[in-house]
Amino acid sequence: MVLVSGGAGYIGSHTTVELIEAGYDVVVADNLSNSDMSGVEGVRKITGVEVPFVQVDCCDKEALREVFKKYDFDSVIHFAAFKAVGESVADPMKYYRNNLLSMMNVVDLMREYKRQNIVFSSSATVYGEAEELPVTEQTPRQAATSAYGNTKQMCEDILRDAVTAYEGLKGIALRYFNPIGAHPSALIGELPRGVPQNLVPFITQTAAGIRECLSVFGNDYPTPDGSCLRDYIDVVDLAKAHVVAIERMIEGKNKAKYEIFNIGTGNGVSVLELVESFQRVNDLKLNYKIAPRRAGDVVAIWADTSLANNELGWRAERELDDTLRSAWAWEKNIRGIK
Ligand code: UD1
Repeated sequence: MVLVSGGAGYIGSHTTVELIEAGYDVVVADNLSNSDMSGVEGVRKITGVEVPFVQVDCCDKEALREVFKKYDFDSVIHFAAFKAVGESVADPMKYYRNNLLSMMNVVDLMREYKRQNIVFSSSATVYGEAEELPVTEQTPRQAATSAYGNTKQMCEDILRDAVTAYEGLKGIALRYFNPIGAHPSALIGELPRGVPQNLVPFITQTAAGIRECLSVFGNDYPTPDGSCLRDYIDVVDLAKAHVVAIERMIEGKNKAKYEIFNIGTGNGVSVLELVESFQRVNDLKLNYKIAPRRAGDVVAIWADTSLANNELGWRAERELDDTLRSAWAWEKNIRGIK
């Protein structure tokens, strides 16, 4: 059995589906601070399984303890965290308190209740503006430029130190590149609250007429078309990486108590290429304009995925075109667009 903290959210719900389809029992814990029950409901519709759900804030250790007492999971996938970069700069303590405390509570309780395996959802943000591309897991981390980014680095360190020191614990940090798209059923997907900060939800909301115009942040970067390059990873592929990571630890195939894997496609795609592809595959015209650069953006980053390919036996499978179709299918579904 696997505890998925933050399992009602975007990546958490997709991972819950993949775990169930791989034969795992799952319990979802989420405080619904940035999600709602539609994610859990979507998982039920897709899998036909009524996943146990506990509304709990992982920062509330005594409440979280009840989940550990009640459910006999051996593994935890820890997603529960805040993730808005700009907000974290404006209110860093909110991010440090939430993201660090929840991580520490999960690790403490895993020790106390003798649960073995933990996967932590880290981010390519830890690499900052890397000196060499693509980035490998050995590429040095750069000093974080946001509290959000800093919490990802600090949580990686907490996990590394804890699993190294304490017997019976193993951990894997997955460094996600840019997760996009939705489940092929269009029953779960990304559901940002308020104005989307990330590119693909902004694109789909613009296509749906909710946003007037997409701003492409910068076309004067030193890249082939002047817009930034990212490694856009399909959310279902990303979800499957979690299943493989859990399996690796359960089967004792891990080579160290703490391991890190990049989870991306290995391709750098520009913002303008992504916009063009979205229009082409969905046969629509997107209202967009070139806008000034966004503060804090890195120019280019994409993953060297050889470690995940060779060690985990995992690789990204879904074509970008299909992922972009799924993103639009999901947006249409939630907006009731035919
Ligand atoms: C951002 C965070 C990263 C976090 C990730 C989570 C920053 C600097 N980084 O990554 O730490 O892990 O989200 O999902 O915020 N873009 C536009 N117009 C838009 C929105 C985005 O042109 O309206 C461009 C951005 O300039 C960037 C690309 O699209 O070049 C991707 O942006 P985004 O989806 O926000 O992801 P990241 O910035 O890569």
